[in-house]
Amino acid sequence: MVYYLKEVRIIKQILTAAKALFENAKQNISLLANASAFINQEIEKINWVGFYLYLDDKLCLGPFQGKPACEVINLNEGVCGFAFKEQKLTNVPDVEQFEGHIACDNASKSELVIPLTKDNFKIGVLDVDSPILNRFDPKTVELLKQIAELVVKYYKL
Ligand code: SME
Repeated sequence: MVYYLKEVRIIKQILTAAKALFENAKQNISLLANASAFINQEIEKINWVGFYLYLDDKLCLGPFQGKPACEVINLNEGVCGFAFKEQKLTNVPDVEQFEGHIACDNASKSELVIPLTKDNFKIGVLDVDSPILNRFDPKTVELLKQIAELVVKYYKL
């Protein structure tokens, strides 16, 4: 119980810190750059985190942390294309089992992709990779979902 309450407190602190960081962003590139740096700092055991933005019917690489990554993803490709096209949070416990997965960093073993939409405008996706199989447990998914919601809230259309 004590451990659980401590965890809840930590999650609240992380979300409060995220809000404080995001709400003052003057423009979207700063917002997304700091959001990827923030997630990289706060979430353990990840090797890549960043944004792909919807442009000309493709997903284009946006601000990220990690190794250089593929610049353009077609909507019929990869976990990112799938999650965006279906507009569905996609949690892949083992990327080798996902047909069409695009390996930007061979270290990536599991992946979480969260579509970002604001007022019917499709912004793109948040993509997080981990070097550990099945990294994205329900608590981590929930936390990343809430951080993604804050990004959407402060994203300017
Ligand atoms: N693995 C992704 C491609 C982007 S990298 O992970 C940074 C995919 O399959 O869509």
